[in-house]
Amino acid sequence: MALLEVQDLTTSIVRRSGSVPIIRNVNLNVDKGETLGIVGESGSGKSVTMLSVMGLIPSPPLAITDGAIRLKGRDLVGADEKTMQAVRGADMAMVYQDPMVSLNPVMRIGRQIEEGMTAHHVGKNEAQQRTLEVLGEVGIPDPPRVRDLYPHELSGGMRQRVMIASALALSPDLLIFDEPTTALDVTIQQQILYLVRELQRSTGVAVVWITHDLGVLARLVDRVAVMYGGRVVEVDDIEPLFSEPRHPYTEALMASVPGMHDDERAPLRQIPGSPPDVNHMPPGCPFQPRCEFAIERCTREMPPMLSHGTGESACWVPREEWK
Ligand SMILES: Nc1ncnc2c1ncn2[C@@H]1O[C@H](COP(=O)(O)OP(=O)(O)O)[C@@H](O)[C@H]1O
Ligand code: SF4
Ligand SMILES: [Mg+2]
Repeated sequence: MALLEVQDLTTSIVRRSGSVPIIRNVNLNVDKGETLGIVGESGSGKSVTMLSVMGLIPSPPLAITDGAIRLKGRDLVGADEKTMQAVRGADMAMVYQDPMVSLNPVMRIGRQIEEGMTAHHVGKNEAQQRTLEVLGEVGIPDPPRVRDLYPHELSGGMRQRVMIASALALSPDLLIFDEPTTALDVTIQQQILYLVRELQRSTGVAVVWITHDLGVLARLVDRVAVMYGGRVVEVDDIEPLFSEPRHPYTEALMASVPGMHDDERAPLRQIPGSPPDVNHMPPGCPFQPRCEFAIERCTREMPPMLSHGTGESACWVPREEWK
């Protein structure tokens, strides 16, 4: 059994006039201790997918309109808010792009981490001790001093470490990072990536890493799901995905990465055209208006996800016939 199973998940904007899906039929599995990357341009549905898993989509206007989410076999779509509060933090935790959004500016950071634990019925002394422990685990020097600081007294990189410490506090099985390093400079990004990899090795925690930058994933993840227009269009192990992508969109993203063992800091080159608007999805394949390999069928019919070796992809034209 996978740690996290997302099956045919559809999350929609529900309006009185009808509902518009923003992610459609998303399938994802994360095994215990595994690291999955989710990559795609801005607006492709990465955050909505994982916020749906966390039970944190803004509702209304959003709602899960179809599909199943199971964590350790437990159904989360039908779960009430009390259950979700118990699951969040203890079983899975999410770290966001901007720590200043998640941190309370007028509360000392130690207290913030402790409160996350006491809300889950951890005793005060134990919470204080654990706070020092996790601050150490994320590489913060002098935890007893840093515990008593306010968020603005820390650098961006240190604040991100505090967020990770807080997410680790209750030893969850799954950590979700939503573009956690995009606001940071390159050196700090790489330090944080390195830290997460080390944490994953030492604690066995499974990681979902959301990014718009495929290059970032090269040294970090076991498997990658590529999202486009609210759908997963390709999923595969990292090696075959980089060496032989099966979806033209993955290929286009790849072309913008200067090589797996090269400099992973180079920014993405733009793919011509723009991503589809959820309110005006083209018929057929969502990538068709931008795809250099499109055939007539692509304008009419949505390609299904088909398995091939280690992965799956949704494209009418096999890689061998791309030209
Ligand atoms: N609260 C919301 N109301 C309406 N549309 C939303 C809301 N949140 C996200 N969307 C839309 O859903 C799509 C996917 O968003 P998101 O998951 O945030 O993309 P990503 O994280 O890949 O950049 C976007 O088109 C976005 O405009
Ligand atoms: S189905 Fe057609 S349009 Fe879509 S990615 Fe494949 S070739 Fe391109
Ligand atoms: Mg996002």
